[in-house]
Amino acid sequence: MLKKAIGIVGTGSGIPEQVLTNFDLEKMVETSDEWIRTRTGIRERRIAAPHQATSDLAYEAAVKALESAGIAGDEVELIIVATITPDMIFPATACLLQDRLGAKRAAAFDLSAGCSGFIYSLETAANFLAAGKYQTALVIGADLLSRITNWRDRSTCVLFGDGAAAAVLRPVEEPLGFLSSVLGADGSGAEKLYLPAGGSRKPARRETVEAEEHYIRMCGPDVFKFAVRAIEEATLEVLRKADLGVEDVDLFIPHQANVRIIDAAAERLGLDRERILVNVDRYGNTSAASVGLALDEAVRAGRLKKGDVVVLVGFGAGLTWGASVLRWAY
Ligand code: UT7
Repeated sequence: MLKKAIGIVGTGSGIPEQVLTNFDLEKMVETSDEWIRTRTGIRERRIAAPHQATSDLAYEAAVKALESAGIAGDEVELIIVATITPDMIFPATACLLQDRLGAKRAAAFDLSAGCSGFIYSLETAANFLAAGKYQTALVIGADLLSRITNWRDRSTCVLFGDGAAAAVLRPVEEPLGFLSSVLGADGSGAEKLYLPAGGSRKPARRETVEAEEHYIRMCGPDVFKFAVRAIEEATLEVLRKADLGVEDVDLFIPHQANVRIIDAAAERLGLDRERILVNVDRYGNTSAASVGLALDEAVRAGRLKKGDVVVLVGFGAGLTWGASVLRWAY
């Protein structure tokens, strides 16, 4: 429980125009629309244009979120960008964004928690606000996984897409806003989903490029099992902390990695499909953007009204997981 009620007061998305369908992928690797649809639920995903970087999509999402909250860039005091594909290793993508938004007073940093990044960042920002340190925070989940995808590896390249999503946080009236949260990590699973080279352990060299070590490596089936368990356990824990049950949830927004993961977790939780937002069919796995993209879609489709109970839950590289329960604030 936060010391002060903090809620989301605006959301936005930045999605590239180019659509890559399963049929397009059939021409690139040994796969089929049928395999991708039945194993993952994905039909298409968006791919950033060559001139676009993570901060460009993040900027688009941020501008829309600020607009929807009716807040000017220079009112923002904290910017957190959740990403594993920053524009550059340094400086932080959040700093590039701070400049473009004219958020002169804002502190800015990036946060790396893979696909749990949006939830990790919401929790971080909400605590800064609840402590009274700032009044207005901007959280963005943004990734261009297409830039670290091995387009010859069919076991990963069919899964990912590019995107960004943003949320503006401010104090709200009780009992609205964040009710409880859970964050977790198990670093023993680090090599289940990782990018081997380009950091200090294996700096970029001709050999690392030749060995294709600048691309995502993933043990899909292990991550699948971890994901189903993480969603179930994090959801039950976060609801218990908020003194709520699964029956109280109006909208459930899980990380969009694979519809089979969502279905398996929902079945264990006893959640019916009508209360779950699924858009993985249109965007694939957009990493740190995924939960925010789905949230923004729900808001814009009118699926949330003031007072609704929303559960956000994510899992990803680290391995990490996180969940938040909110009473929707507007
Ligand atoms: O954000 C978190 C990140 N990641 C995830 O959440 C991913 C979690 N894991 C998954 O979603 C699933 O494990 C995958 C979708 C990645 C794979 O599905 P699976 O049902 O676990 O398949 P599998 O890896 O066990 O592979 C089954 C078969 C294999 O062939 P054999 O060995 O049975 O002959 C693969 O080679 O499917 C084959 N396969 C493909 N076939 C056609 C793997 N990828 C493809 C493909 N097209 N794209």
